[in-house]
Amino acid sequence: MHHRYDVLVVGAGGAGLMAALYAAKGDVSVACISKLYPTRSHTGAAQGGIGAALGNVQEDHWEWHMFDTVKGGDYLTDQDAAEVFAKDIIDAVYELEHMGLPFSRTPEGKIAQRKFGGHTRDFGKAAVERSCYAKDRTGHMILQTLYQQNVKAGTTFFNEFHVTDLLIEDGRCQGLVAYELSTGELHTFHAKAVILAAGGYGRVFKITSNALTLTGDLMSIYYRKGLPLEDMEFYQFHPTGLAKLGILVTEGIRGEGGILRNDSGERFMERYAPTIKDLAPRDIVSRSIITEIREGRGVGRDKDAVNIDLTHLPREVIEGKLAEITDLARTYLGMDPVKDLVPIQPTAHYAMGGIPTNLDGLCLSDGSGGTVEGLYAAGEQACVSLHGANRLGTNSLGDLVVFGRRAGIAAAKYARQVEYPDMPETGDAQRESVDLFERLRNGSGKENAAAIRKELQESMMNNVGIFRNGKDMAAQVDIIKELKARYQGVTVSDPSRRYNSELIEAMELGFMLDCAEAMTASALNRTESRGAHDREDFTERNDAEWLKHTMAYKNLNKADDVIIGYKPVALKGFTRAFEPKPRVY
Ligand code: FUM
Repeated sequence: MHHRYDVLVVGAGGAGLMAALYAAKGDVSVACISKLYPTRSHTGAAQGGIGAALGNVQEDHWEWHMFDTVKGGDYLTDQDAAEVFAKDIIDAVYELEHMGLPFSRTPEGKIAQRKFGGHTRDFGKAAVERSCYAKDRTGHMILQTLYQQNVKAGTTFFNEFHVTDLLIEDGRCQGLVAYELSTGELHTFHAKAVILAAGGYGRVFKITSNALTLTGDLMSIYYRKGLPLEDMEFYQFHPTGLAKLGILVTEGIRGEGGILRNDSGERFMERYAPTIKDLAPRDIVSRSIITEIREGRGVGRDKDAVNIDLTHLPREVIEGKLAEITDLARTYLGMDPVKDLVPIQPTAHYAMGGIPTNLDGLCLSDGSGGTVEGLYAAGEQACVSLHGANRLGTNSLGDLVVFGRRAGIAAAKYARQVEYPDMPETGDAQRESVDLFERLRNGSGKENAAAIRKELQESMMNNVGIFRNGKDMAAQVDIIKELKARYQGVTVSDPSRRYNSELIEAMELGFMLDCAEAMTASALNRTESRGAHDREDFTERNDAEWLKHTMAYKNLNKADDVIIGYKPVALKGFTRAFEPKPRVY
């Protein structure tokens, strides 16, 4: 089947829906293609809030938010992106409110705000209440609100369609190929502009807060074309995932007064961050938890978790402002946060890196300003370099709406100005996708995708996780090569077409292997510690050599080889010298 739309959006989370909405307002035809029914997208898992300097509870300014974002990113953040972001998010939050998003309220009826790690007043002097929230279901509310707005704006949805290939010729995007889950049919979509907003790839790790669908499909497809992935070494572990499951337990829980305790009940964050304790930035809290576990002070059967304690908080706070995580703990662990300590462990949460873009979401083809005409990206899948080496909590939801909106506006403007690009005949357009499915369905190999996925997830967790070193990462490069070789021999046991989840998971595994390859090569190459990239063999941040973005390219002439290039960081005056001294946590 063949379709034609001026603007195609891939992904129906916060970034995709915001991009689709703004493209639809731009007087062009818009379709949104999603692996899921839109309101099941992973944005729904974001709990604690969306940071914006509204100043509803305490004095606040966009300049303070910009500074915190740059500092949180350990100065790898592009400061032009942080400036646009910190200014635009204020208006974007009010826009969501006017669309009907049911924010929690202050007693005077303003949007309520609470503390989150790393958000400060007066350039780092003390914590500030900046996170605007709807209980602990903020992402869920954003999804519902934006989906309704898209229905009203006339966006066409193709739900349960998996993108299998992007069509790019002579530096211009022409459209894409997608697989329809309910029929097993391939569809060709012809477009003037395509916006990629399909989320992250946390499923490469064993313990992750990411939904099953977050397998880095579009990042891998982009990378397979010889185009770069930026800053893939920077991957954030959220300190608090439900033990063994990884399901997110919002940082808002510590913003409301939750306390981390080890096996003897000690509030151990007092040792690691004496000033802000449990509200230290995520990388510090995650490393502290892992240190407690490594030194034998963990809890649970395997001693691989610590506890979060809410039992001193009033029941109405726990069941009111933290209703979602209370439900999750009761449902999945059979524990009640009102009276029980809840075991948690760090969980792979968020990719700071991804498909490089400029401030309007236009995809970059190299580190020196080259672009892919007609192709845009936004949200976790993209890297506009807002988060640098480490993202602040609540800046993910802000990123989705601010840069989703900018990409939607830019793509619609472009689509109004150009004709449809030429497009290959259906047979040619679909050839690579047909070949892939043919091999997975009818190949002679005996490899099993689930077994390879398990090895990938366990080895990534051990070798490219919270603490890293050259020896383990070099070993991981070899492990990924071996897993990729075995992947060529994967054949599914069920070759049927309709709702074949085994087939889809086998395809996704190929995407995950590419993302893991780019991440490991980038991490091994960066011989310093910065933000979420913590090396035991290079413990210092090294601005003289490493104040630059990594651009990882697949070598199209040599299998399993990654070519590393660089891109300068956009600076606008914030440097470490600007921080209050000493740097206290
Ligand atoms: O802790 C949280 O609620 C997560 C927020 C985020 O990742 O921004």
